[in-house]
Amino acid sequence: MKVLVIGSGGREHALVWKLLQSPRVTQIFCAPGNGGIAAEPRVTCIPCDVKSLDSLVAAAVKSQPDLTIVGPEIPLQIGVVDEFQRRGWRIFGPTQGAAQLESSKSFAKEFMQRYRIPTPHYAVCDTAEAVRPALHHFHAPIVVKADGLAAGKGVVIAKTKDEAAEAAIEMLSGRMVGDAGTRVVLEEFLEGEEISFLVLSDGEHIAPLVAAQDHKRVGDGDTGPNTGGMGAYSTPELLDDQMRDWLLHHIAQPVVNGMAEEGNRYVGILYCGLMMTAKGPMVLEFNCRFGDPESQPILMRLESDLVEAFEAAIDGRVSDGVFHWSSDAAACVVVASGGYPGTYANGEKIFGLAEAAKVEGAKVFHAGTSYMDGNFVTSGGRVLGVTARADTLEAALARAYDANRRVSFDGAHYRTDIGARALKKR
Ligand code: AMP
Ligand code: GLY
Repeated sequence: MKVLVIGSGGREHALVWKLLQSPRVTQIFCAPGNGGIAAEPRVTCIPCDVKSLDSLVAAAVKSQPDLTIVGPEIPLQIGVVDEFQRRGWRIFGPTQGAAQLESSKSFAKEFMQRYRIPTPHYAVCDTAEAVRPALHHFHAPIVVKADGLAAGKGVVIAKTKDEAAEAAIEMLSGRMVGDAGTRVVLEEFLEGEEISFLVLSDGEHIAPLVAAQDHKRVGDGDTGPNTGGMGAYSTPELLDDQMRDWLLHHIAQPVVNGMAEEGNRYVGILYCGLMMTAKGPMVLEFNCRFGDPESQPILMRLESDLVEAFEAAIDGRVSDGVFHWSSDAAACVVVASGGYPGTYANGEKIFGLAEAAKVEGAKVFHAGTSYMDGNFVTSGGRVLGVTARADTLEAALARAYDANRRVSFDGAHYRTDIGARALKKR
């Protein structure tokens, strides 16, 4: 079968890499893809603007896929699934209505309140005048979130009420994150460890993926500004069976049931961003798709056929048996452009990819790269996701960092402490 993957990041490279292992997949198209994805065998990249339905439809007309998989959130928000379904094309992902769980934080918060899903206390503000009175009900620190999609840049953790008011008013003015901030959510600040818990849903039944932990801050020791994610790991120890079952019964299944009840059947990957607090797990956010970089280590631990899982979701036959996971650990170290998450230069030549490919159990997923004049060059903030699998987290990290040391480009930076928190707990 021919598969079309929408997107261009490390997550999409990992999806393509895993899909290529399916005996059923003969050819993959990626719209728009990147330099590393285009270099995979049996893969063709198609230029595409993922923010335009017309462009997405054109990519499908050109590639005639038997199945389309959506990587990022923007195509879901603009209704690519609804549009493809209307045309009778097979596509994996939630509809525009169901994707509101990610595309509107106020929708997600109100939904969680209706179904008593544990989430921090919150208030919604639509005008600058509403901010100060709403803040009366909070203690600092306070989390200020843009309602809409802001690529990880829509969250401010304010140390004081004044700081929170300032951030909220700045967002509402449209200066900070544009239209994504025309409504803001104020939220109680929680302490604890974050976990990314993903499930596959067919609208009724769900199956868990293995859990992962992201590293959102740019610097070692969780310092500096937030990014899209600087690395992630996945181990069997991250989430025990008892906690996994609790999360399925108290969070993931109630979400899927509630969405169905409200006429927004949720088919796709439901990503629950959780804070494991002293009082139990709480939902910080939902994403309607695979995480990036979490997908890289998660998909490395997947032993079964990913196409089968996507088809089971589309055809309403998701069960526990849909995934088989390795008990190995996997870790991904993101290598970013100099200046990221601020401004950075593109076009830096990348060296050492062939050497890195020689490290056993490692795979360099490309995120922001292109192939020009015989060389891979940087073309984004997050450039590479150097990922490795091994029987322990220590060994997976050793392999990932070994491969990582072999690649270089001007200005490259990465965190040296991916997985360190888990290692310290041992
Ligand atoms: P979000 O996009 O809502 O997941 O927020 C991005 C990041 O901000 C999260 O991954 C957390 O690190 C942090 N964050 C969000 N909400 C909270 C909260 N209520 N308490 C503490 N940290 C938070
Ligand atoms: N790594 C967080 C996300 O994919 O949104």
